[in-house]
Amino acid sequence: MTPVAGQAPDGPGLESRHRAWRVLLAVAAGAYADAALERELAQGSLSPLDRGLVTELAYGAIRQRRLLDGWINAHARMVAERQPPPLRWLLHVGLYQILFSERVPVSAAVSTSVALARRIGLARLAPTVNAILRAVLRRREALPGPLAPWDGLSLPADPAERLGLCHSLPPWLATALLAWLPAAGAEAFARAAATPPPLDLRINPARTDRATQQAAFAAAGVAAEPLPDHPLALTLPGRSGDLRALPGYLEGHWCVQDRHAQAVVPLLAPRPGERILDACAAPGGKTTQIAECLRGQGELWAVDRSEARLRRVRANAERLGQLEGIGCLAADAGDLELLRPDWIGYFDAILLDAPCSGLGTLARHADARWRVTPAMIEELLPVQSRLLEAIAPLLRRGGRVVYATCTVHPQENRGRIDAFLKGHPTWQLEQELQWWPGEGGGDGFYAARLAAPALNGA
Ligand SMILES: C[S@@+](CC[C@H](N)C(=O)[O-])C[C@H]1O[C@@H](n2cnc3c(N)ncnc32)[C@H](O)[C@@H]1O
Repeated sequence: MTPVAGQAPDGPGLESRHRAWRVLLAVAAGAYADAALERELAQGSLSPLDRGLVTELAYGAIRQRRLLDGWINAHARMVAERQPPPLRWLLHVGLYQILFSERVPVSAAVSTSVALARRIGLARLAPTVNAILRAVLRRREALPGPLAPWDGLSLPADPAERLGLCHSLPPWLATALLAWLPAAGAEAFARAAATPPPLDLRINPARTDRATQQAAFAAAGVAAEPLPDHPLALTLPGRSGDLRALPGYLEGHWCVQDRHAQAVVPLLAPRPGERILDACAAPGGKTTQIAECLRGQGELWAVDRSEARLRRVRANAERLGQLEGIGCLAADAGDLELLRPDWIGYFDAILLDAPCSGLGTLARHADARWRVTPAMIEELLPVQSRLLEAIAPLLRRGGRVVYATCTVHPQENRGRIDAFLKGHPTWQLEQELQWWPGEGGGDGFYAARLAAPALNGA
């Protein structure tokens, strides 16, 4: 029998919901979801099952905020945004279980929500919590199944409003997706952005090979599948949490890297003996991949403006046995021409994995969809352009740049390339790759390879 998480209203089940509720409260007050969750999980003992429940409820309810508000608005006297925050987030934890959770019986969802209302000092509102959750249940029980989480709500006619409500996207993003993609593509994006992503690994060919590592996982009872389109990738279905105990981690046989992120360095195609700059390198997923391509011959520099994040490049490189081959420099990549005049015209190839809005990785960050705003993206565009302009003089004639992001926003991607090419008409856009979230199972990514002119270039 599959154990059911937290059925006893006063037992660990209530504790799990209480912690998930505190994560929602913290995120609404500005905390990052992963940091808030980590704090809650660090406090006292919870079984692995209940830790999983806290994670599912907290991340799920944060992602589905708009839809859960829609249900509150349909059944409460006061709209969700005007509810006292402790009540609003408590209702979200309860509603999320009713609408989404496959492992929590609806009776446990209601009883633990009412018990939680009492525990957090909202005893006066416990009957309200009970009435709203039961009204939602009654509404859905009257419908023939199987039910989507929005079935039972009256949906807006406007396509963007509808997409945004059903899939809990901010209005601006729902509108933008429908401008960028056909309706089915926008919906596929929305579904992928709400689905916990697969865990992909990149094998370190200097230490092992994919079949050997797969066999080592199998011997430890860990399911791992090779990804046919990505020669060094294994994917671990349903795996998350602390990976350091898995076979081969400490020995540097692999690192975690999304399958599409693994396709960016092959576009740069570093060859042994070349001089390569990774201009926004931390935490080093692509730096270490470049080092693997150079096989100890050539020169590789990892630049990041954050010294703390650069330490993660060093730690990753050390574990993978590549530290000696990588120079690290904490600096603003926009200032390298001034800081390192010896680097002008020096590099054969440069990777600029630019800071971006991260719209391709919403599935990995439960709260990201509520943080990213059009104004923030407007502010990123000149930053991305400035970095691209600033690294161009560091390239030798005939050299190549790969500009990459983990966003799908056309302005952050092709828009930056077009702006650059306008000012540098002798450069060429050689190849472009774009993945939308869910396409091929990985994150959304963009990468473009630019070639500098071989002679007298602009
Ligand atoms: C998308 S992440 C890079 C991911 C990395 N390439 C990898 O594959 O692991 C962007 C990085 O750019 C760095 N960054 C942002 N602005 C920068 C700047 N002006 N100069 C150098 N690094 C910068 C951030 O600190 C962050 O580590």
